[in-house]
Amino acid sequence: MAKQVLLCPPAYFEVVDQKNPYMSEMIPVDREKAQRQWQTLCSALEQAGCQVETIAPAPGLEDMVFAANQVFVGFHEKAGKFVVPSRMVHGSRQREVPFYVDWFRKRGFKIIDLDLGSDYLEGHGDLLWHPDWSRIYAGYGFRSTQTGVEKLRDAMTKLGIPVVPLRLVDPYCYHLDTCFCPLNSEAVLVYPGAYAAESLATLRGFWKRVHELTADEAHKFMGNGIVANGSYLTPYLTPHLESILRQEGLTPVVVDTSEFEKSGGSLFCMKAFLP
Ligand code: ARG
Repeated sequence: MAKQVLLCPPAYFEVVDQKNPYMSEMIPVDREKAQRQWQTLCSALEQAGCQVETIAPAPGLEDMVFAANQVFVGFHEKAGKFVVPSRMVHGSRQREVPFYVDWFRKRGFKIIDLDLGSDYLEGHGDLLWHPDWSRIYAGYGFRSTQTGVEKLRDAMTKLGIPVVPLRLVDPYCYHLDTCFCPLNSEAVLVYPGAYAAESLATLRGFWKRVHELTADEAHKFMGNGIVANGSYLTPYLTPHLESILRQEGLTPVVVDTSEFEKSGGSLFCMKAFLP
C-alpha cells in the first residue's frame, strides 16, 4: 500500500516576521513560484510511490504550509493511530494547530493531549521516529522546551515507547529536523555542530552508521530531506551527500525549495507521514 503523506498548499504562505535566523532578512515570498515548487514536491512524492493528502490552507496562517509541526503523528499497537497536538512558540502558528487536530480527528486518530502548560512542543520539527517506530528522538532548546519534551516522554513511556531528548545549540538548526535525518533503521544523517556534546554522544549510541553533514550542507537544509521508497528528496546535492546516499542505497532527487527556505523550512518541514 502506498505511504500516505499530508501536505498543505502554500496559498497564504508569506514571510511576515522573524521566527528563526533564516527569516532575519524578511525576503518577500514569490507566491506563484512557491506554488510551483510545492506542486513539484507533490509530484516527486507521488513518483516515489506516496499518496498525497492535503489539508485546506487558512487565510492569515502564513506558515501553515509547514505540515510537520502542528501535531506529532504516531502509531502504537495498543493506542492505534494517534496524534499529540503541539504547543507552538509563535501565536500565528498556535492557531494552525486546531485545523490539523480536526483533520486527524475526522480520520479516526486518537488525540493524546498533553498538559503542556507554558511548555512548547513543535511536532515533527523536533520529534522524529526511529524508522522502525521503536523510539522517538526529541530535540529541544530553541522551540520545544526541555520540560515539554519530558512531558511527551512521560506520556510515551506509558505506551512503552522510549523518548531520547537531545539538546540543540545552533540557532540555524532550531528544529531537530534540520540536523537529523534517519536514512534507514541503521543509518542516520546528522550535523554534529547542532548538538550539545552529551546529546551527540547519546545519539551515536543508537545507530550503526552516523553520516556527518558539514555546516554548510546542514544550513542549506540537506539534512531536511525526505526518505521515500529508495529516494532521498533534497533541496541541494553535494558530491559528499551524494556519496553518503549511494552508500545507503538511496537515489537523490533534487527538489527546489528556495521560496520556503526564506521562511527557514524545506522539504521535511512541509509534510507529515501518516502511519
Ligand atoms: N517559518 C517556520 C517557523 O519558523 C518554519 C518551520 C519549519 N519547519 C520545520 N519542521 N523545521 O516556524
